[in-house]
Amino acid sequence: MTHSVLHINASARHQDSVSRKLSAQIVQHLNPAETVERDLAHGVPLLDEVWTQATFTPPNDRTVAQAQALAYSDTLVAELLAADTIVIGSAMYNFNIPASFKAWIDQVMRAGVTFAYTENGPKGMLEGKKVIVALASGGTPIGSEFDFATPYLKFALGFMGITDVTVLDSDGTTALTKAA
Ligand SMILES: Cc1cc2nc3c(=O)[nH]c(=O)nc-3n(C[C@H](O)[C@H](O)[C@H](O)COP(=O)(O)O)c2cc1C
Repeated sequence: MTHSVLHINASARHQDSVSRKLSAQIVQHLNPAETVERDLAHGVPLLDEVWTQATFTPPNDRTVAQAQALAYSDTLVAELLAADTIVIGSAMYNFNIPASFKAWIDQVMRAGVTFAYTENGPKGMLEGKKVIVALASGGTPIGSEFDFATPYLKFALGFMGITDVTVLDSDGTTALTKAA
């Protein structure tokens, strides 16, 4: 049963966006007790020097500037931690995910927070979550050799411990059946 959904949208379009419409239908279908909306279309900050230095600094030793640099990332990570299901509506741009969506992944991929380096190599810390991606493309078939979005998403999410990832193409009927 889905209790808490994080609903992310990454298409630059609002009107006529196939992925937004489909991801909204999936959330409605899941009927969660709580939904948090995160729209990436207005931009996500790119990582800079202060941000990267901050992540290598223990929380109690961070400067005010470093803490401020991580504040947005902390918010995105908290949204991710709180959700048991993450529903993502994304366009395919240039055979991959939109840059804003990649920037979101950069913001939440945090050593010691969403994954850890262990004696046995890196280990994801977000196990037990489910991700459903409604991925809309124009001519590139989802799952084809030119779809670099699907393998990248599965690997990046898996790196954080999220291995239950379903990527649906923009066929709405199929998508809702598979999301059930
Ligand atoms: C900048 C840009 C790049 C695109 N690149 C691709 C692409 O590489 N492959 C593809 O099949 N469609 C591509 N498209 C088409 C979109 O994936 C398609 O219109 C999709 O429906 C967009 O998602 P949306 O309807 O949620 O906005 C591109 C569209 C734009 C605007």
